[in-house]
Amino acid sequence: MSIHTPRIEKKITLSTIAKMKGVEPITMVTAYDALFAQLFDGEVEMILVGDSLNMSFLGKEDTLSATMDQMIYHTQAVGNGAKSACIVFDMPFGSYTTAQRALENAVRVYRETNAQAVKIEGGKEKADIVRVLSENGIAVVAHIGLMPQHVRSEGGYKVRGKDEEDIKALLEDALELQAAGAAMILVEGVKAEAAKVVTKAVKIPTIGIGAGNSTDGQVLVWSDMFGFFEAFKPKFVKRYCDGAKEVREGLEQYISEVKSRAFPDEEHTY
Ligand code: KIV
Repeated sequence: MSIHTPRIEKKITLSTIAKMKGVEPITMVTAYDALFAQLFDGEVEMILVGDSLNMSFLGKEDTLSATMDQMIYHTQAVGNGAKSACIVFDMPFGSYTTAQRALENAVRVYRETNAQAVKIEGGKEKADIVRVLSENGIAVVAHIGLMPQHVRSEGGYKVRGKDEEDIKALLEDALELQAAGAAMILVEGVKAEAAKVVTKAVKIPTIGIGAGNSTDGQVLVWSDMFGFFEAFKPKFVKRYCDGAKEVREGLEQYISEVKSRAFPDEEHTY
């Protein structure tokens, strides 16, 4: 049996991540609890406690009903499991409607969890909020492109950057958010060419999800990439293992062994 040696042993900070731009692709996955955070820690550079937990953990239709209390609770759990990864807290819908509200909520995140940055969805219209948070010592990951918190107002999940005009709009968003002090830009659901233009134009790292292969890093939702979330599979999701199938097979074997009294056998009995 081999003893697992983590790939990364030291604490990853945002400045470590900033230095990776153009040098080495950044890896990020989501996690919502200590068990999985511990599995991912020491392997990926970053862990996002995404509000996607509202769907893949709580079984809701979209991310909109996630609350600050829930996000804090899950980020505390992730912080208990992850010691080296840089943890990002996803600000839930309605928690950053004004700069003041965003600041109060983000201060709570820094006080009550060990997240190193908060993520907010929005383009240049959110630049003032990003500025206020950065000026108050809170690192911000700005999330542009397809924004899941806009699913109801936009009537679905729509891929962005399909024409020159929209690429220009995404570029403007990225540049204004960078100027406002964003530490990183997460680009979701955009044509690869648009993400490439944005990545080249900014000095801060970009992390892509459904944004092609030119961003400075990639993020995937853990339950999607390991085949646990079966409700739907967007085109950009690659399943690295078939988690649900493995669990089902294990469960079937357990049931059959209990029913036949094959379990517990001698090895598993005091
Ligand atoms: O909530 C989340 O997991 C996210 C990712 C989709 C980037 O925001």
